[in-house]
Amino acid sequence: MSSFQSSRKVFSSLEPFNATAWDNPFTSEDRERAVDSLEGGRVLYFKDLRFALEPAEKVLLSTSWSDAEAKNISLDPVGGRLRGANADGEEAYGLERMMSRYASHAQKLMQGLVPAYAPALRLGRTSFRPHEVEGRDVRSFRKDDRRLHVDAFPSRPNGGARILRVFTNINPAGKDRVWQIGEPFEAYAGRFVPNLPRPLPGLAHVLALLGITKGIRSPYDHIMLHLHDRTKADLKYQREAPRQEVTFAAGSTWVVFTDQVLHAAMRGQFVLEQTFELPVSALRRGERAPLRILERMTGHSLAA
Ligand code: SIN
Ligand code: FE
Repeated sequence: MSSFQSSRKVFSSLEPFNATAWDNPFTSEDRERAVDSLEGGRVLYFKDLRFALEPAEKVLLSTSWSDAEAKNISLDPVGGRLRGANADGEEAYGLERMMSRYASHAQKLMQGLVPAYAPALRLGRTSFRPHEVEGRDVRSFRKDDRRLHVDAFPSRPNGGARILRVFTNINPAGKDRVWQIGEPFEAYAGRFVPNLPRPLPGLAHVLALLGITKGIRSPYDHIMLHLHDRTKADLKYQREAPRQEVTFAAGSTWVVFTDQVLHAAMRGQFVLEQTFELPVSALRRGERAPLRILERMTGHSLAA
């Protein structure tokens, strides 16, 4: 831990990029740097890449349109279903329009920045996070993203596919979004994986049959889910783990593999986020993926 802390003055988890437009033409050097940084567990930071709201959309920057129970409002890529919203009519339509515009901007950015991924990149949900993170009453520790964690989907097993996310801070009052970034995945997983419970034989099939998961939970999904929960529940780790605080200014965008980069969102309000999934086979260097790291660690193949 101390080596991480002593090096943090010189090492930043953020990899800066200059772009002011979502269809920015990136140079081949930028594209190389993007792939290498992403797969190496860094966060690509676009300080000046903002998402412009239309005048009529300003009213959407409020917690009023959000379901009290839901962490955020989300839009399904297929079918365009809005979830977690407490809005209908004009506001529901406005939310859908704003979020689908964001989804197409995020897709354009990824096509220009990482064209090597583009054919394999699958569009996931778009989310709008209207709540102030700091001081929010979160009932379940599992849902508390102020605790360091890597992302995993409890009900949508992905069999090793990567979770790539694009975030934009759209705070109208200029408020930063502040994250903490933890240690590299391999060091982190090495602390927890040896002590995780093994999957119960047959459980993955039962969960799928009951409709609790969409499809069969692979051993990889099992480990990632338990890693997520164990890490959030481990108060000592939460208190003492090495970390670096990073700040995403209002009007900025960042891109990160959140299944690999330990992160916690500490402060801020109003963010848009687009999820993509990417098969490990599409990576430049698949051996750096959590799936491959965990396979080396456990000595087993963890996904079909
Ligand atoms: C998270 O993915 O854990 C939360 C990130 C954010 O909303 O800033
Ligand atoms: Fe997360």
